[in-house]
Amino acid sequence: MSVLQIVTFPDEFLRKPTKPVEEIDGALQQLIEDMTETMYAAPGVGLAAIQVGCDKSLLIYDIYAGEEKRELNVLINPQVIECEGQIVSENEGCLSVPEYRSDVKRSAKILVEGVDREGKPRRIEAEGFPAIVLQHEIDHLNGKLFIDRISSLKRHLYEKRIKKKIKQQ
Ligand code: NI
Repeated sequence: MSVLQIVTFPDEFLRKPTKPVEEIDGALQQLIEDMTETMYAAPGVGLAAIQVGCDKSLLIYDIYAGEEKRELNVLINPQVIECEGQIVSENEGCLSVPEYRSDVKRSAKILVEGVDREGKPRRIEAEGFPAIVLQHEIDHLNGKLFIDRISSLKRHLYEKRIKKKIKQQ
């Protein structure tokens, strides 16, 4: 297993819509292993394949990451079936959006269908924090970042700050 490099904003690769996984093969299992290692090392509660340079519809998450308990979820080709209500995700952050956090409006409840790493169908009903994590990761699969869901003024200020920082490096 190895820790992969995380693609960060404003890299345009993060904007690519992902392709469905057609075959769950050894290479994909290896990618899942490496993504898991990368997520726990960061540490983060979720990671999409696009964030480590692979434009496939694959995400992992563990709402307990960083704690002693672990509960890894692997979701391939996820589709949002239903969403309901509204919730404010406080201080949301992203491994691909360094040095920034913001409140984000999200659906309170979500129903997602996809398959697991064995190809078995999975139907996940989530509410509250797990629902937020799932929406955040599924956004990644559609080329979307959480900063697209905040005001354009805030986003531009962040963009300016990060571009200046990159120039100075
Ligand atoms: Ni993210």
